[in-house]
Amino acid sequence: MDLFDRRLLLVTGKGGTGKTTVAAALALLAARSGKRVLLAEIAGERLSALFAHRPVGHHETPVGDGISLLSIDPIAAAHEFLRSQVGGAVHRLMFQNRLFDVTMTAAPGLREVCTMDRIWDAARADRGRRKPTYDLVIVDAAATGHAMAMLRSPTTYANLARGGPIRKRADEIGALIRDERRTAVVLGALPEETPVNETLETAAQLDELGVTIGLTVVNQVRETALDDASADTLAGLVDGGAPDDGAVASRVAAPVVIAHRRARREATQSTRLIDGLGERVPLVALPRIDSDIGRPELDAIADRLAVA
Ligand SMILES: Nc1ncnc2c1ncn2[C@@H]1O[C@H](COP(=O)(O)OP(=O)(O)OP(=O)(O)O)[C@@H](O)[C@H]1O
Ligand SMILES: [Mg+2]
Repeated sequence: MDLFDRRLLLVTGKGGTGKTTVAAALALLAARSGKRVLLAEIAGERLSALFAHRPVGHHETPVGDGISLLSIDPIAAAHEFLRSQVGGAVHRLMFQNRLFDVTMTAAPGLREVCTMDRIWDAARADRGRRKPTYDLVIVDAAATGHAMAMLRSPTTYANLARGGPIRKRADEIGALIRDERRTAVVLGALPEETPVNETLETAAQLDELGVTIGLTVVNQVRETALDDASADTLAGLVDGGAPDDGAVASRVAAPVVIAHRRARREATQSTRLIDGLGERVPLVALPRIDSDIGRPELDAIADRLAVA
């Protein structure tokens, strides 16, 4: 199934694996095919910075090219959630008595379920006249621990309430994220041992939750132009096999050999990831880029994702 036929993509992965970059590149790619895209992050302005736009805050803000940005403020989302779910009077009462602050800190998963509620609302096919409708919502969903807490939160809340509006909404959010036709997770990974282990652990947890992985992106892949035999020849120079000008040869060869061996080690880790995930999860490798990531680089990454 095409990744972009869904309504919601949640990009997660270990810290620094390229979640924000990949989420932005996916948004550009989807928008190229004419989709109306909302690209959201939680409590930050990394995306607006990437799009060279002023901070957008908790407001859906069109930034051109068919993309809108949103930085979800979990507290603002909680106010919206409570106002709509328990009614204005109860919400005011909670707010006046500082019950709200206490509840937000004490209730496990409340922040997360309110954030998910905001995402659910944006991903609805028909939001009524007053709100824009998107074909696709892409969320830069923070590091794995937090993302898993968000994905689990609807179940926690569904279990807390037997019936009533909160139960109903929690069930609706849960149904959205477990529906593989509407929702997929995009996992960011690096071709290194610990990130690969974590990616495989996360994949197992997502399986348990019944959430589909639509794509895994192995980021910052370094390629090697050498074959192993040439690398071994060069390594011979490094190890002192060179004649008179050995010191120079060694100095030139050493970084090449090191880079080659690192690329080979990384390739082994990528293979381990592919084997661990199995064929059911599409995987794409993105090359490491040797410059800061701005709009041209994001477009180039989108090109790479397009051919995947
Ligand atoms: N393919 C790439 N080549 C080179 N640098 C990259 C690549 N992808 C991302 N980066 C850079 O690596 C850093 C981490 O990327 P990014 O911010 O997208 O990761 P993240 O998973 O969102 O991180 P965090 O966990 O901090 O939110 C950034 O400085 C980004 O510009
Ligand atoms: Mg990020």
